[in-house]
Amino acid sequence: MESIKNKVAIVGMGCVKFGENFDQSIDDMLIDAAYEAYADAGIEPNQIQAAWFGNLWSGHTGQILATPLKLSYIPVTHTENACATGSEALRGACYAVAAGACDIALAIGVEKLKDTGYMGLPQTRPNATWSYRLASMTAPAGFALMATRYFAKNGLSLEEGKKLLAQIAVKNHYNGSLSPKAQFQKEISLEQALKAPMVSYPLGLFDCCPVSDGAAAAIVVRADLAKSFRPDPIYVKALQISQGPREGFMNPAYDYAHVEETRRAGAAAYAEAGIKDPAREISCAEVHDCFTITELTIMEDLQFSKEGKAPEDIAAGRYSLQGDLPVNTDGGLKCFGHPIGATGLRMMYEVYKQLQGKAEKRQVKNPTIGLTHNQGGEPGAAVVSVAIVGNEK
Ligand code: COA
Repeated sequence: MESIKNKVAIVGMGCVKFGENFDQSIDDMLIDAAYEAYADAGIEPNQIQAAWFGNLWSGHTGQILATPLKLSYIPVTHTENACATGSEALRGACYAVAAGACDIALAIGVEKLKDTGYMGLPQTRPNATWSYRLASMTAPAGFALMATRYFAKNGLSLEEGKKLLAQIAVKNHYNGSLSPKAQFQKEISLEQALKAPMVSYPLGLFDCCPVSDGAAAAIVVRADLAKSFRPDPIYVKALQISQGPREGFMNPAYDYAHVEETRRAGAAAYAEAGIKDPAREISCAEVHDCFTITELTIMEDLQFSKEGKAPEDIAAGRYSLQGDLPVNTDGGLKCFGHPIGATGLRMMYEVYKQLQGKAEKRQVKNPTIGLTHNQGGEPGAAVVSVAIVGNEK
């Protein structure tokens, strides 16, 4: 099987400020993200030859994108793959360019969640779009199961486990305080995290990502053309996605303390990119911290920490901005929220800026390889995308 490695490059990216964007429509956010990406790549809108549009709940078909951006009479494809939707849009654009179907493609994702009333708690309003959740498990409840299972498997008391998760929240809120486009830009203390109201035992307020609106975009071109757009393109090294069989709920052997789809997508991406020792070779990573426990297990599933050793590495600050392998340098979902169609591309926006040395106060030292991990579904039934990019061909 051929690899995508070094066949395509990202030459422009855009991202709106994420948050409760009540004053911005879906069109407004798409236009702002796309035009930032066009300006960054130094292209005109009419140079886009095809577009991939990631969106879960904010409309149907490619028309939601084509109309505000006036992308008339070119291929515009709507992609959806649960919370990994934004990464799916990027994957579609990259494969089309690699296949020679087009030379300049747009990947863009958007979601406007606040207006829907969606949240992580069961909905009780009679007309709530997500009222069916009353009869099913909420996202915090699903991930809370992972937390208690991880604590039990690794011999952590509730206090030790809560402290570990709180350290992740404190780190990500600190990084968010340095991110002008984050929804939350406030540092929190360990004590605040530990004393926060409970959302779904043992996950408290600061263990959860917030509900948010946002959009992000990327311009993808043939790698051999990339330097004609800018001197510092970012080359795609691997794009992998792993769709689980949903057997976690039925399989008594499933331990709920790891996500098999993350392990598989990560291993496949490392093989595609030629990475032998991820913990040493990856310079920075954006991972799907929808809840702090998710970030914890991802550290092991992506081989950043040895199995059972993530608690030690977290406590030692290994994943902080000054650590060996900074993770969620922009504050992650914890500070940006999770506007579903946009998240995977927002992650890539941060890695792209880091690899170009343009991440300002969040800049990590001399990065060469960055990774994004975008997870959809729930523990036991997930879909996971892992993308690897680098600043040298
Ligand atoms: N982290 C930190 N602070 C948060 C927060 C979060 N996740 N969510 C809300 N806040 C803050 C708000 O900024 C606000 O602060 P302020 O009083 O200083 O202005 C305060 O908490 C209350 O905000 P509000 O919007 O009323 O919160 P809420 O109680 O309606 O929502 C949650 C809190 C945790 C229920 C909500 O953030 C949530 O549903 N998160 C999970 C979303 C989810 O499951 N997504 C799917 C992921 S797979």
